[in-house]
Amino acid sequence: MAAYTYADCLKTSYAVNWRIEDVLGDRAFDPSLPWLPAALSATGRLPDLDADDRRRLTQVELAAYAHLFGYVEEFIAPQMVALAGESALAGGDAFDALTNFAAEEVKHMTLFREVRRRVDAALGFATALVGGKEETARFVLSKDRGAVLLLTAALEWMSQRHFREAIRDDGSLDPLTRDVFRAHWLEESQHARMDHLETVRAFAGMDAARRDRAVEDLAALLAGVDGLLQAQAGMDVENFERLRGAALPPGRREAVHREVLRAKRWAFVGSGVTHPRFEELYLEVTTEAQRARVGGVLAGILGEAAAAAA
Ligand SMILES: [Fe+2]
Ligand SMILES: [Fe+2]
Repeated sequence: MAAYTYADCLKTSYAVNWRIEDVLGDRAFDPSLPWLPAALSATGRLPDLDADDRRRLTQVELAAYAHLFGYVEEFIAPQMVALAGESALAGGDAFDALTNFAAEEVKHMTLFREVRRRVDAALGFATALVGGKEETARFVLSKDRGAVLLLTAALEWMSQRHFREAIRDDGSLDPLTRDVFRAHWLEESQHARMDHLETVRAFAGMDAARRDRAVEDLAALLAGVDGLLQAQAGMDVENFERLRGAALPPGRREAVHREVLRAKRWAFVGSGVTHPRFEELYLEVTTEAQRARVGGVLAGILGEAAAAAA
């Protein structure tokens, strides 16, 4: 059983805290390098693309990746502000740690906005990215808190996995990508632990009917995330064609679209829900029947085999 504490999270947060200008400075993305590793990109499943197209595809996928991270932080920050407010008079370190968590998330939103600006500057055009951030945040925050916290935990453990398993040791990547996600990883590490603490606390206060509702809402949120990924995958293909200066032939276009969506579904859903720390939390707060309900939604997103591992 994980033994996280707010005090440890806060202490580590203060120790690793960074400023946006220290990470970005006046640096620019290098268009001659890949910007996203193969494990988080469709390029690993499209062996027929030539080297230039592989590099270009990672560049438009990075635009979407940074955008979607900023997008989800739009609901994480207010959620943490609400949780902090409830802890204000409870004593202990939860108020300080959760307030700091929310402030870091606001900083991350600014970081990713600036990353997207530099991506567009390096690519030479405004990349097409899904809109409706505020409406999405409102939709998410209208759901049961237990569902929002489970989704948040999956996303934050996911960010840990991406950096450690795919980004950190990929020497071919643009160093700016690595530095941005290294900085994000450093602070998200404490967020994931606090998500765990808050999720356990939220579920502890629920009766059985409320828990069912929370899990039902989690299924709806996962379906909502997938809707966003589907919309963005189509935009990635448009961005890719614009960057390469020519439309893809019809058969190839469909293959690129299919693999871009598959890569996004793994990156934003599969790699989170199969993270061992997330699984530990999920098993603790749900029943087998509830997991079967969510498993049906995951099978539609990830395919039967990948969902069965979740
Ligand atoms: Fe973040
Ligand atoms: Fe976070």
